[in-house]
Amino acid sequence: LDNGLGLTPQMGWNTWNKFGCKINEKLIMETADYIVKLGLDKVGYQYVNVDDCWLLEQRDKDGHIIVDPKAFPSGMKALSDYIHSKGLKFGLYSSAGYFSCEHRAGSMGSEEIDAKDLASWEVDYVKYDNCNHGGQPNYQRFKKMSDELRKTGRQVFFSICNWGDENAPVWGKEVGNSWRTTQDIFNHFTSVEYNFNQNQKFAEHAGPGHWNDPDMLQIGNNGMTPNEERSHFALWAIAKGPLIMGNDLQNIRPESLEILKNTEVIGVSQDTLGKQGLCMVNCGPLEFIWRRPQVIAAPMSNKDVAAVIINWRELNHGEFSFSVNEIGLELKNDEVYLVRDLWEHKTLGPFSSETYTVPSIPGHGNHALRFSKYKKGKEPQFVTE
Ligand code: DGJ
Repeated sequence: LDNGLGLTPQMGWNTWNKFGCKINEKLIMETADYIVKLGLDKVGYQYVNVDDCWLLEQRDKDGHIIVDPKAFPSGMKALSDYIHSKGLKFGLYSSAGYFSCEHRAGSMGSEEIDAKDLASWEVDYVKYDNCNHGGQPNYQRFKKMSDELRKTGRQVFFSICNWGDENAPVWGKEVGNSWRTTQDIFNHFTSVEYNFNQNQKFAEHAGPGHWNDPDMLQIGNNGMTPNEERSHFALWAIAKGPLIMGNDLQNIRPESLEILKNTEVIGVSQDTLGKQGLCMVNCGPLEFIWRRPQVIAAPMSNKDVAAVIINWRELNHGEFSFSVNEIGLELKNDEVYLVRDLWEHKTLGPFSSETYTVPSIPGHGNHALRFSKYKKGKEPQFVTE
């Protein structure tokens, strides 16, 4: 959507993955406090988004949404002000149906009044879901809300949660800043694998202002090992998927926090070229059976190439070689390359060989690398540890 937002994939936090309908204003305010306290805002997480269940099923007599008075007694404007006072941005959820998935009031047929109410609370982000819509065409339902939000004059990131509609990557670009490509993610590595691969089918449609969304992050929810969480993060970053946490920041384990704060991996996600990474090595269906490591690679705006070497198997894999040419690093005779390891925070090289070898890859683990080319002798010097 051409509204000046989402020029790089959105980053923030959302209530759903961890808290579902067990939400209230205290939780949201404390989470905003923690985003700042843990320095997550400094590395790019900015949206604080309340998902389903913040509103009642019925509307008031004038057709307005009713905010759940028990869970949000201070109202949405007060919550919005609090989040803004922390330097963060505020997001709310609604649904392109008569009711939301949890049977709260939906916006279909009330788009104008809801868009105005949302804008009056100074929301910066709307996630728009897809339940209980009576079969009316998706494009029309999502476009209507997108238009009404635009008419309010407020700049709002529009996140299309169109699960179940494989055409959304085609129409979504005009209507929203991102669209879902998968069913809901669950807190297990099989879901990470499934959603990542499903999302890759639509890579050609992603770009600045309009992203494929393989759903929110499960990092910090203790359903995956640190290696699996690292793969989840690196894969979402190189796929240009939204980096929206869905965890309990007040009780997050340090390993998970460190993963979410890896600025070098975030740098791949937030690169301004905005090209979704593609599988370049071992991508055929046979590879799926043998489960050799795959290499997902993406060009970067400064001509670097980012690569995630992913071991989908549960077993460790030994060292693994691939051709740098295959991932888009075309070397001339007088060129060498350095390799930055984005997890180890180490620079290796210079190298001039066509083939690059990574050390062993743990089960469900990855190496996340960034290749930079230089004229021979012109590469920056660095101190090896
Ligand atoms: C379905 C969506 O895909 C989820 O992310 C979440 O928003 C729920 N609906 C809420 O009901």
